[in-house]
Amino acid sequence: MGRFEGRTAVVTGAGGGIGRACALLLAEQGARVALMDISAESVELTAEALRRAGGNAAGYLVDVTDTAAVDAALARAEEDLGPVTLAAGAHGIVRNHPFLELPAEDWDATMAVNLKGMFVLLQRTALRAVAHGGGTMVAVSSVAGRGPRATCADYAASKAGVISLVRSAALSLAGHGIRVNAVCPGVVDTEMTRAIHRQKAEIEGITAEESFARQAAKIPLGRIETPQEIAGVVSFLLSDDSSYVTGQALNVCGGLEMD
Ligand SMILES: NC(=O)c1ccc[n+]([C@@H]2O[C@H](COP(=O)([O-])OP(=O)(O)OC[C@H]3O[C@@H](n4cnc5c(N)ncnc54)[C@H](O)[C@@H]3O)[C@@H](O)[C@H]2O)c1
Repeated sequence: MGRFEGRTAVVTGAGGGIGRACALLLAEQGARVALMDISAESVELTAEALRRAGGNAAGYLVDVTDTAAVDAALARAEEDLGPVTLAAGAHGIVRNHPFLELPAEDWDATMAVNLKGMFVLLQRTALRAVAHGGGTMVAVSSVAGRGPRATCADYAASKAGVISLVRSAALSLAGHGIRVNAVCPGVVDTEMTRAIHRQKAEIEGITAEESFARQAAKIPLGRIETPQEIAGVVSFLLSDDSSYVTGQALNVCGGLEMD
């Protein structure tokens, strides 16, 4: 029996690198998985991969900033897959601008997706989990939420906001039998990171692979992490193995950040 047998999980950003890895692992561990993403194509790719692996999943096209759309998708997910009591928030966007050039519209967009979207996911899922007698939720933040970032102040602020949001949600929901935690990845091999390194490489006149290697050399464990390494920690935090852990933000970053 998998650790999530008989349970239904919602995963946002399920078409992305970390979201897909989380969805695949949770399904492998027995969960039925509601896959949510703003990209129809990528969410369908995840759904196909998951079904090929023998999992039970359904994809939903959702913009996490739209509360009504999230509610509607959760309602459909419960009809299709059963009561939702687990959530992994792995949606997100990042844009690179030095502070003096950061457009206010980009600030708004980053805050809307990364922070408001996480609030919407946690609150709307929690309302259902309360009715079902409890649950667990994990939000993907970032080590960028732990400190300053010269070229993505909006992203760093949104991720610091996610850590704060998780703490408040955990405090508020503990009495309802709901645990809420965050994971803070460092540098993960996904399209988000590859796009940043393509941009950096162009500016620095090197290849994207060289830029990737330079980044890896700055990490104490000496390599960039895989999405599966995040998924493993997300699964742990969603499971009963972490039954006394709530309101925490756990760095999963090869030692890039230590606290
Ligand atoms: N890749 C890294 O190095 C890294 C490091 C730290 C934190 N993170 C965080 O991990 C999470 C996942 O990142 P990833 O690396 O898998 O990136 P990714 O770009 O592969 O995936 C992000 C997913 O979010 C989806 N998304 C974007 N806006 C959305 C919206 N409004 N509604 C619903 N879905 C939306 C995208 O379509 C995409 O599928 C993000 O929150 C990111 O900030 C990533």
